[in-house]
Amino acid sequence: MNRLTAGLQRTSRWLLCLAPTLVLANDVSSGQMPKDDAHMGVATCASSLCHGSSKPLEASPVLQNEYVTWSQFDPHSGAYRILLNAESKAIAERMGLGPAHEAPACLTCHAEVVPAAERGPRFQTTDGIGCESCHGGAERWLSTHYQTPQISRADNLLRGLVALERAEVRAETCTGCHVGANDKFANHRMMAAGHPRLVFELDTYTELWRTSGGRQHYRKDADYSERKSLPASVNVWTVGLIEAARQQVVLAGKHAGPVADFAIYACHSCHRDVRVDAFGGGQPSARAPGSLKALDTTPGDLRLQDSHARTLLVVADTLALPGREKLALSLGALQQAVNRNPAAIGALASQLQQQLTDLGAVLAAHPWNSTDKRRVLEAMVSAARGGAYPDPASAEQVAMGLVVLLAGLDLDRDRRAEIDALFTALQDDRSYDGKRFKSILERTALGR
Ligand code: HEC
Ligand code: HEC
Ligand code: HEC
Ligand code: HEC
Repeated sequence: MNRLTAGLQRTSRWLLCLAPTLVLANDVSSGQMPKDDAHMGVATCASSLCHGSSKPLEASPVLQNEYVTWSQFDPHSGAYRILLNAESKAIAERMGLGPAHEAPACLTCHAEVVPAAERGPRFQTTDGIGCESCHGGAERWLSTHYQTPQISRADNLLRGLVALERAEVRAETCTGCHVGANDKFANHRMMAAGHPRLVFELDTYTELWRTSGGRQHYRKDADYSERKSLPASVNVWTVGLIEAARQQVVLAGKHAGPVADFAIYACHSCHRDVRVDAFGGGQPSARAPGSLKALDTTPGDLRLQDSHARTLLVVADTLALPGREKLALSLGALQQAVNRNPAAIGALASQLQQQLTDLGAVLAAHPWNSTDKRRVLEAMVSAARGGAYPDPASAEQVAMGLVVLLAGLDLDRDRRAEIDALFTALQDDRSYDGKRFKSILERTALGR
């Protein structure tokens, strides 16, 4: 399965350079999602007096070189161009799609998709994933958003600027493309034609992206924190797990059925050696502790994509959060339903979305202390011993969560060598070895 690995390999390389730089801070604020404001185009942000400064400006609260950083270093500026490369041509050809850069199935995640009526005169699809893909259509805020103090942050949010500093809002924005959503899906035909398997963790990916090319998209400093507030990395992590798990449930609900799209299932349900215990991890969660037992699969069943949910349940059990047992039972029921009772899938998927939202609210209010972080670290190791992370997709979730927790405990620098070893063990899906991963995980989490 060589093509399976491309995405993870690249991600791991990023992680190796950047994992130890994750920073910790605190808290949350408020905002609003955009409606259908017109997108004015990247060119409208790019003036040297606005966000197109050649250097970061020290005296200004915002760097003002965001356009330059984006166009030269941010992977999103090249996302449309990728559709013109040989790899994309090959994928589209194998799928019988016609040109990838014209295919809605690809553009939906590789460009800023805006209906013709909502495009400003300078908007161009060829610009890729521009500022307004994340920050929201600028129609109502473009000409006023910089007029501080007359125009407040709250005014900007009312005019449709997206409150991306809030982890929940950012999670919804990023997972839409990095996990999938109701209107966006990297389906199994794309995977089989060569698309990289999607990997995502909100805090890790935010930091990787924010510091693309060794530049910063925005500063994480006292001034920023005062203007907008910076949620702590552990909160960003768990908010991301909730949202990613929710999107996976949405995809399962939409693409399941008597003949489901295979991409709703864990890839390694099928793509593994034909022998018992192929990854050295044992039958998924057969011996796993706590709520994870509810996710047990009968040998031979297809397992849903549940890597985010598995990590989440370990956190929820350790912190004894209300609602976790019911959530686990519903996840277990969905797992059963996709294998033998398709008629039940729709109702379960809606119920699960609500349960995840509720757990998200509980988690958002949880004040993490060092003891919590340590206990979750230990619980992840013990879950791994019980076979809770049966494949590379769930192992990489644990690894990324682990780095967030170690950074939160200020232990990430001490454990740098172990962290590097952990991500090296995840670099290639084909050579993933559950037993080896477990022993490195143990050393990384608990120290030598
Ligand atoms: C659900 C959203 C989604 C859809 C749909 C999608 N992609 Fe992607 N694609 C991504 C993401 C996210 C990445 C980056 C993966 C990563 O590195 O984690 C990516 C990566 C890629 C890459 C590898 C890029 C590189 O830097 O090597 C290629 C090539 C690609 N996509 C082509 C396509 C083509 C062609 C289509 C349509 C058939 C398509 N994509 C549809 C989200 C999507
Ligand atoms: C992939 C999503 C994404 C894209 C694309 C993107 N941004 Fe951002 N941007 C963010 C996030 C996330 C933040 C941090 C949250 C916040 O402050 O709103 C941010 C923050 C900012 C800030 C605030 C910095 C501060 O200190 O308050 C500015 C200014 C900014 N972006 C401008 C731009 C411009 C200009 C572009 C296009 C050239 C752009 N962004 C493209 C996601 C994005
Ligand atoms: C409109 C879809 C879309 C949105 C929204 C989006 N991304 Fe992406 N992202 C992509 C695609 C497509 C790629 C692959 C581009 C490439 O390979 O050049 C990508 C690449 C990345 C990468 C590089 C991954 C790698 O393996 O090299 C990171 C990190 C990333 N995105 C983080 C984020 C974060 C954080 C957010 C939210 C603030 C976000 N993205 C929002 C589509 C999106
Ligand atoms: C229900 C079982 C099943 C699941 C789950 C599944 N696949 Fe597949 N996959 C298949 C089958 C069947 C083929 C076709 C094999 C063939 O053509 O010989 C295939 C083919 C592929 C191929 C092409 C292999 C080749 O040699 O050309 C890739 C790559 C791939 N899948 C990736 C994935 C990824 C990534 C996921 C998870 C998002 C996934 N698959 C989930 C059954 C599955």
